[in-house]
Amino acid sequence: MRFTVAIDGPAAAGKGTIGRAVAGHFGFGHLDTGLLYRAVGARMLAGEKAEDAARDLTPEHLANPDELRTAEVAQAASRVAVIPEVRAYLLDFQRAFAHRVGGAVLDGRDIGTVICPRAEVKLFVTASAEVRAKRRMDELQGRGQAADFDTVLADVKARDARDAERATAPMVAAEDALVLDTSDLSIEEAVAAAIAAVEARRAG
Ligand code: C5P
Repeated sequence: MRFTVAIDGPAAAGKGTIGRAVAGHFGFGHLDTGLLYRAVGARMLAGEKAEDAARDLTPEHLANPDELRTAEVAQAASRVAVIPEVRAYLLDFQRAFAHRVGGAVLDGRDIGTVICPRAEVKLFVTASAEVRAKRRMDELQGRGQAADFDTVLADVKARDARDAERATAPMVAAEDALVLDTSDLSIEEAVAAAIAAVEARRAG
């Protein structure tokens, strides 16, 4: 059985949490596509050309995701993500994952619009910039990284602008996506809404 759930939206809106929970509930595989861009960004920071890093990316480069989940790597990721060649090199890996037998959940910025335009379910998960900055700050502090609210908010807004305004595959809700604003939802409520959307499509 092939069944693809595409989850897009801005940083720290809850895509990853929802994606993991939906995948766990239905026994689907889950790919956090932001990690691909983060891995390329990290290698650019280490001195490599972004296009070369994207062309040569292998699953081993994603083996230590926590090392890629820093504010510095996030900014580098959004800078390499504007380069069309980088996006093109990462396309096949993502499409192959989306078509895996047993179902797949992919979260990112352009999954429902570019990577999997025919996904069975598309969600656009969002929340106010302030709520997202607070969540990202708590997450970074939880991992022992220094983070203050104003800096994290500025980072979140800078990334939103770069992701939404780039020419290639900008972050935008697909026309047929269900928009889920998690600003006032608990994690449980947001996950339940996403699971209900998948159930509805599977039943129909
Ligand atoms: O989701 P995450 O915050 O880890 O993504 C890091 C950056 O990677 C994003 O700000 C965005 O620029 C880029 N990205 C992208 N397309 C995706 C996933 C992530 O451009 N599908």
